[in-house]
Amino acid sequence: MSTKTRGITLVKLGGSVITDKGHAFTARLDTIYRLAEEIHHSIHDCDLRLIVGHGGGSFPHTVAQKHATQRGITGSESCRGIALVQEAAARLNRIVVKALIKSGLNAISIQPSGAAISENSRIVKWDLDVVERLLDCNLVPVVYGDVSIDLGQGCCILSTEEIFRYFAAKLPVERIVIGSNVNGIFDKDPNIFQDAQQIPLITPEKFDQVLCFLGKSTGIDVTGGMRSKVAALLEIVKRKNSIKCSIIDITRPKNLEDALCGRKIIGTTIQG
Ligand code: IPE
Repeated sequence: MSTKTRGITLVKLGGSVITDKGHAFTARLDTIYRLAEEIHHSIHDCDLRLIVGHGGGSFPHTVAQKHATQRGITGSESCRGIALVQEAAARLNRIVVKALIKSGLNAISIQPSGAAISENSRIVKWDLDVVERLLDCNLVPVVYGDVSIDLGQGCCILSTEEIFRYFAAKLPVERIVIGSNVNGIFDKDPNIFQDAQQIPLITPEKFDQVLCFLGKSTGIDVTGGMRSKVAALLEIVKRKNSIKCSIIDITRPKNLEDALCGRKIIGTTIQG
């Protein structure tokens, strides 16, 4: 199959996996380098057309919280916040892109704050022509949770899932893999409740039920925790029911590679 006709896979490296959310500006370098290797193997062994996204973790979340960037331009310090949040997000992005390049991949950074326009914290405009052309050249575009200009409130924060929501509406996306530090979605927070039950499959009938019990994430999170992220994923599969989305634990070595290559691993599948 030619490069252009193959469907696109979107993969997210969660901020809680690639950084230590308890310590500001602390990247988990070993994990990032391992995940970069796994992505490299899967692209080569399983012939994927892949866009990588990654969360911000302890890089931009803390800065955004301090400046309340998610609430928009509210005072004279807000623009300083925009500058500092994009710097923090881009700093982690450089680390991820460097690891992907070191693994042998031709990764290239795409800066959401320099490309997207949002309204009510949702992307409404972003010319993805360049992303498609990069894919056609066998480059691996790398996007990330970032700050964005917002037509309503001045600025907002975009999660990687919101970026994926927009990409899935505009590009021939066939699969989304969300790499987390837990095995998918649970009916309670598995870090707190020992009897939390993992949900293997979420179909449209279960959407409302799932959103009800999903809480906010632990630690600082300006993008609304798991609830708003899963809401974005549900919206994607509702809109295009051909897209299969899975949430998996990528702290376990080989899980990401197996998932990307279509091998069955434990996690939650969301299907429309
Ligand atoms: C967060 O992006 C972006 C900023 C705070 C600027 P995500 O929402 O995708 O990141 P994680 O996975 O929660 O860290």
